[in-house]
Amino acid sequence: MLAFNDILEDARAQIELAADLAALDRVRVAFLGKKGVVTELMKKMAELTPAERPAYGQTVNDLKSAIQEQLQIQEEALQAEALSKTLAAQRLDVSLPGRGLGLGSLHPLTQTRESIENFFRGLGFDIVDGPEIEDEYHNFDALNIPAHHPARASHDTFYLENGFLLRTHTSPVQIRYMKTHPLPLRMIAPGRVYRCDNDMTHTPMFHQVEGLLIDDHSTFADLKGLLQLFLEDFFGQALVLRLRPSYFPFTEPSAEVDIQCVKCKGQGCRICSQSGWLEILGCGMVHPQVLMNLGIDSEKFSGFAFGMGIDRLTMLRYEIPDLRALFENDLRFLKQF
Ligand code: PHE
Repeated sequence: MLAFNDILEDARAQIELAADLAALDRVRVAFLGKKGVVTELMKKMAELTPAERPAYGQTVNDLKSAIQEQLQIQEEALQAEALSKTLAAQRLDVSLPGRGLGLGSLHPLTQTRESIENFFRGLGFDIVDGPEIEDEYHNFDALNIPAHHPARASHDTFYLENGFLLRTHTSPVQIRYMKTHPLPLRMIAPGRVYRCDNDMTHTPMFHQVEGLLIDDHSTFADLKGLLQLFLEDFFGQALVLRLRPSYFPFTEPSAEVDIQCVKCKGQGCRICSQSGWLEILGCGMVHPQVLMNLGIDSEKFSGFAFGMGIDRLTMLRYEIPDLRALFENDLRFLKQF
């Protein structure tokens, strides 16, 4: 008669030696598997007399339960050990400083636009938007630039289908605003404009602000005074302005406004290409023909308009040498503002 106790002892010893779950499973198979020691004992039942069977069966079952219990205890122990090993390996240091949330900031172009808006809003100017997809009427014709006018060629226009185009300047917003608002009026219109151009100082998309004022007593002197106030506010310093005669089909007379270089104060430097002056904007008195196009009596009303590049103003304000940096969205660049 096989000593059941020896088998149990043997099982206990092997179970205790099992160093991991795989080893423990091999022990389980050796004792309780299809060809395991205990299973073989069960098969021997067939050789016994009916009278012997119950006691024998009971004993083998007890042995099986005892081994199962040992296996269970060891399995739980091994699982706990594996878990604490994993936890120890992936130790979390709760005393480390957190990664934190980086604070964003406004794009330099947005900062420039907002400071322009704030200045003109303070003087009662309306701040308006216009469509970037325009038609030839608003972008050219109504602004006194008819089909074969040479000024049209100087706007390298992106044409779309059916007479539409990407606006080449913000001036069409003047037309839309005059059509829909009673006189007197004053507004600025910041926004994107498009020209087929790409190099160090030109990108196919850039930003302008249009300004327009119409009433019954405005003069060129008012225009000059307003621009002087604005530019000094924008650059945060007293400035010398220079107006050069210029030409725009929608203003008469027209002028280009330069300021004495904010960097070298007129001495000549890299920023002003040694000239001492910086070209800042175009402006003029609204052409009577433009007023007439909109049914405004040019004998009673007059006004002025101006247009400037937000990108160029931003470059000058923050001394950014390459225009394209404004559009590359490189965080190392943007974080400086
Ligand atoms: N629209 C002109 C340009 O893009 C600028 C301008 C605006 C000039 C208003 C005069 C008056 O060059």
